[in-house]
Amino acid sequence: MKTKTIICDHPLIEHKIALLRDVNTDTKQFRELIEEISMLMAYEALKDIDTVEKEIVTPLEPVKQRLVKDNSVAVLPILRAGLGMVNGVLALLPTAKVGHIGLYRDHDTLEPKEYYCKLPENITEKTCILLDPMLATGGSACEAISILKEKGCKKIKLMSILGAPVGVEKVEKEHPDVQIYIAHIDRCLNENGYILPGMGDAGNRLFGTK
Ligand code: URA
Repeated sequence: MKTKTIICDHPLIEHKIALLRDVNTDTKQFRELIEEISMLMAYEALKDIDTVEKEIVTPLEPVKQRLVKDNSVAVLPILRAGLGMVNGVLALLPTAKVGHIGLYRDHDTLEPKEYYCKLPENITEKTCILLDPMLATGGSACEAISILKEKGCKKIKLMSILGAPVGVEKVEKEHPDVQIYIAHIDRCLNENGYILPGMGDAGNRLFGTK
């Protein structure tokens, strides 16, 4: 099944992206903005998560009400910039389990390779929300999705804040069953693989490493 990329273009998200792009935004504010945007995007990405019906007793009478199914969502940041998005998603769904996927770029092949992967138990039963704020070439996202599929995951979503057209197209082509949520698709990549106009190196700006 081919899914269409969902652009989360809410005015609040647009406003926060403008602040995020600004070279004068400091580390603290950058981290808060990534978290806030992730929370707003998660509202959309979690729209079709599993629910169960339960009887609740109000002060007046019992009512059947839908609740989020326990243990049905895993949040999976791609290290390291994806870490900045985790708390935004957990703000909406604090019971979600968190796994981590670490990838490095092989010097010879330039292909992404796994160096770390720790996933929650029963991952195959869960909706997997993969977090990668910058969908640049799409190489890391595609590799992370392949890792999850090899483990047997069936319902995978990718949440990115900014993307380059080439990265979005790569994920759409290689993994047409994965729903992409993105706040904005930028113009292109530069010769160093940075998204233009972008927001610079998201990992460095999040963690103050440059
Ligand atoms: N990763 C980043 O942090 N920024 C980009 O522009 C591209 C990839």
